[in-house]
Amino acid sequence: MRGLKGKNVLVTGGASGIGQATATRFLEEGCAVCVVDRSADARVRVTKELPDLAAVIDADVSDIEQVHNAFQEAVNCMGSVDVLINNAGISIRHDFLDITPENWATVLAVNLTGVFNMAQTTARHMVDKGSGVILNTASTAGDNGYPHYADYSASKGGVIALTKAMALELAPVVRVNAISPGYVLTPMQRAEYTDEMLNAVNRKIPMGRHAKPEEIAALFAFLASEDAAFATGQVYVMDGAETTGGLCSQWAHE
Ligand SMILES: NC(=O)c1ccc[n+]([C@@H]2O[C@H](COP(=O)([O-])OP(=O)(O)OC[C@H]3O[C@@H](n4cnc5c(N)ncnc54)[C@H](O)[C@@H]3O)[C@@H](O)[C@H]2O)c1
Repeated sequence: MRGLKGKNVLVTGGASGIGQATATRFLEEGCAVCVVDRSADARVRVTKELPDLAAVIDADVSDIEQVHNAFQEAVNCMGSVDVLINNAGISIRHDFLDITPENWATVLAVNLTGVFNMAQTTARHMVDKGSGVILNTASTAGDNGYPHYADYSASKGGVIALTKAMALELAPVVRVNAISPGYVLTPMQRAEYTDEMLNAVNRKIPMGRHAKPEEIAALFAFLASEDAAFATGQVYVMDGAETTGGLCSQWAHE
């Protein structure tokens, strides 16, 4: 990708799944990469698997103080942050009628407030230095209803709206976009779906399978690059055409 070599990249939720694949891709592009993740086990594993990372930082993105400290640590390590991959997120599979106030607060705190915390902290730095790119991980659940994920859908809808508002206020200095993946085969997905459920999902996706995390990482790399210099304020869906045909998609592999 043009213009990525030598950039400083911060990836939240970078110790697993889409985030780890994205950290890997930016390392391959010749960037310095810091990862932020709250999971100690995942941090230990990613440190072994990606020894070239500039830092693996412990922080919970829903806590503004931890975000400020983590961001400062990233700046201390890399000198600046040119690209933020604002990707940490969680999901809980439960029926709408069973969602507790605590469930709701937790999902919104990580998926929406966490994205805001990291985005605002980073945007202030980028505005001061005169450039930057912020890429938020939304989801096709952000503009489509999925049963059992009402709180998650609401949080991702918020990420999409936040992305658009930020892009308008921060242009032309900082470009802000969101990626909405469909189903991606990651530990998050494996935690809540049996093999039978994964196969049922695959049958309704015209491409016949889940995305690989590396395929989402490639879109992050493009959107961060000079090749995407005019791209801002948009939501880029990568879902194997799952949501393209509405109900028609249901019949693709039957
Ligand atoms: N897997 C999918 O099918 C899919 C689809 C659409 C969107 N997404 C989104 O992609 C992003 C990455 O998901 P994934 O599938 O790679 O999941 P994952 O569980 O494999 O990785 C998420 C990482 O984020 C970290 N994390 C969670 N909460 C955090 C917090 N509060 N502070 C810091 N780190 C935290 C976890 O420790 C984990 O390492 C999420 O925002 C998710 O909602 C995933």
